This record gives sequence, C-alpha cells and structure tokens, in this order.
Amino acid sequence: MDYDIKDRNLKSLGKKRIEWADQHMKVLADIRKRFEKEKPLKGKRIGACLHVTVETANLMRTLVAGGGEVRLCASNPLSTQDDVSASLVEDYNIPVFAIKGEDNETYYKHINSVLDMEPHITMDDGADLISTLHSKRESLVKNILAGTEETTTGVVRLRAMAQKGVLKYPVIAVNDSETKYLFDNRYGTGQSTLDGILRATNTLLAGKTFVVCGYGWCGRGIAIRARGMGANLIITEVNPVKAIEAVMDGFRVMKGVDAAKIADIMVTATGDINVIDTPHFEVMKDGALIANSGHFDVEINKKALKSLAIKIKELRPFVEMYQLKNGKKVYLLAEGRLVNLSAAEGHPPEVMDMSFANQSLAAEYITNNFKKLERKVYKLPEDLDYEIARMKLASIKTEIDTLTEEQEKYLSSWEIGT
Ligand code: ADE
Repeated sequence: MDYDIKDRNLKSLGKKRIEWADQHMKVLADIRKRFEKEKPLKGKRIGACLHVTVETANLMRTLVAGGGEVRLCASNPLSTQDDVSASLVEDYNIPVFAIKGEDNETYYKHINSVLDMEPHITMDDGADLISTLHSKRESLVKNILAGTEETTTGVVRLRAMAQKGVLKYPVIAVNDSETKYLFDNRYGTGQSTLDGILRATNTLLAGKTFVVCGYGWCGRGIAIRARGMGANLIITEVNPVKAIEAVMDGFRVMKGVDAAKIADIMVTATGDINVIDTPHFEVMKDGALIANSGHFDVEINKKALKSLAIKIKELRPFVEMYQLKNGKKVYLLAEGRLVNLSAAEGHPPEVMDMSFANQSLAAEYITNNFKKLERKVYKLPEDLDYEIARMKLASIKTEIDTLTEEQEKYLSSWEIGT
C-alpha cells in the first residue's frame, strides 16, 4: 500500500484515541452500521483532503464500511495528528499522505498522491484538492461524479468558481447544512479555539481584553466561550447587520485598529486576508497574543509582522515572540495557522459527529443522484439534514414533540385570523 506518514510506531496511541472519539460519535457509528450492510459506496474511489484527526479517522472508517476505497491527505500542514495517520495505515489499511509540519511542497505532493487514485468523489476542507484537480490535473475530471466541501472558506472559493463558470463538477456544500454550521462552526470552533490558545500559552482569560475579528458562526462561538471564561470581549466586523447583532448580544464593537490598541488577545475568524496588519501591529500593547482560527494562514499578515520585527524567537511550542522595532513584544500563536487544530486537537467528536454524518450522507447522495446534478454548489437536501438532527437527538436520548394534525393544518392554512 502506498502511503507517506511520520512514524508507523505511533499506531497504538492513535488507535486508542480513534476509539475514544468513536464513543462520542454515535450518529456516525449508526451510519457506519447501516453502510456495512447496504454498501452504498461500493466501487467508489473517494479522495479526501481533510484535517487528519481522530474524528476524520472515524469518517474514513465509515466510508470504507460503505464499500468505498479511500485515500486521505491533510487539508492543512499543521493539523495532522501523526498517531492517527499511523493507526489508519497500520490498523485500518487506509492510505494516508500527511505529516504534521510538512512544508508546502510536501503538502501538495500529498494532495497529488490522493489524486493519483483517480477519485470518483472528492472530499475537501478548504478546496485545495478540488482546485489542484482543476488547475493541474484536469484530465481527472472525467471520472468525477461530484465533490463535497466541509468549510465556509472552501464553499466561498467554490461559489466563486461556479459563478465564473469554471467549476467542472457538482459539489455538495456540507458546511451549509444546519446540523453542520450551527454546531461545528459555533460550538466546535468556540471551544477548540480557546483550547488551542490555552494549551499554547496557559494564559488566564479572566479579566483580559479579548478581541474577535469576525462575527460569523465561528466568531460568535469564540466570543460566547471567551466571555464565559471571564474575558472582556470586543468584536470587529465589516458587515453592519452582524455588527448590530454583536452589539445586541452584549459585546463592544469597534474598528480593528482601535481594538488592537487595547487587546490582550486578538483572534481572527473572518476568512479574509490581512485582517491584522501593520497598522494593528504598530499600536498593539506589549505582550499581546495574536492567533488565527480561520481556514488559511492569511488573516494575520506574517510578512508585515516579520518586517517590523528586530528579533523572532520560539518561546514555547506554537508561541513565537516578535520583538518589534518600537520595543514592544507580540506573540504569534501557531504561525498564524488554525490555532485550534495546530495547538489543540480541533473540534470535539460530539460536533464532528454531525459534520461527518453530513459528509457520509453526502457521499451516498452523490452516488445515488450524480446524474441529476449540474456543475453547481448544492446544499445537502433538508430531509437528510433533519434526519441527522433526529439521529443526534436520539443518541443523547432527548425526545421532542410532534405537531398534531390540527397544528399541521393550521400552519398550512391562511384563512384563520383573529
Ligand atoms: N475541523 C475542525 N475540527 C476538526 C476535527 N476535530 N477533525 C476534522 N476536521 C476538523
């Protein structure tokens, strides 16, 4: 079997951790059981470019249980859990091409190793697989039924491709399922971002001024959790509606440069470039921590930060001190890459359970419906999204009411008024 991982000897730790996560991914486990019987993915080659974590390992197991042949590479050079790669290769016979800390060249070599399998379905987190396929391996398009995309940043890229007419096959935006973004983006990013910052620095949050750039679902999640730990929150936004929402949620809202002057901790979650840049670095307090929780390492302008620095030194794993010409020190976490997946373990299994249930059902949906799909970005049908919600509720033994016939009728009528 072809693969490229750090160290096969890490497999036993990886297996234990994969099994621990599996205990907390009941929806995915139920789907796996059904897949084992029905084999809906039989004969399908699935190329996956996802964060190589314990949760992803359980998704790969599910796709294989469904009869799929899979290959996995990393969707970020710093997020790979090397013990998980070892276990996937050694215990589950799944080819993985990923090494934590790999350089850019190796990262793309690994993406190409996945593409070498000539996939029928591409599974992306950030759209690097699909964009490499479109730009460098176009001949593979003929085999593809459709793809899936896990994250907001990837969906934005794919919608841009569809709009320009360059998207060559249909894609299911898993991110846009309610059982994905409302939980993974909000509670997953909220908790794991703080986890990454705390593991990297062991800093106290209580009483600190904590700035969150971006008030999308991820930014909201980070803000509510940081507030819960006693920090004083400031939100920066460009969208006026989201800014009002942040105000009415009880947060202070101000311009990024003004927030930078008073931030103890400043975190980006916007999906855009150079959100923290020279004007921000120049006014930052001595000792400020800066981190990114967005998909790509573009939100903090590292080049500008370097050019302002007279000394750069790693003080702890994932903490780099930049001593600036103005005498102040700022600390960059995880090289400006996803702090939650670089310095911590990413989102907990309970939320990835729903995200990866969406991925599994999306792969099945593609297999059954690819002939009907056009070269567009689709949501997973609502009935599947709601089925995942029902399965999740059942797994946490929570019952809800159903509408009576009378109530159903009332909701679909317009004649009854005051
Ligand atoms: N994205 C965020 N957290 C993740 C995790 N734990 N596994 C895979 N992808 C993720």
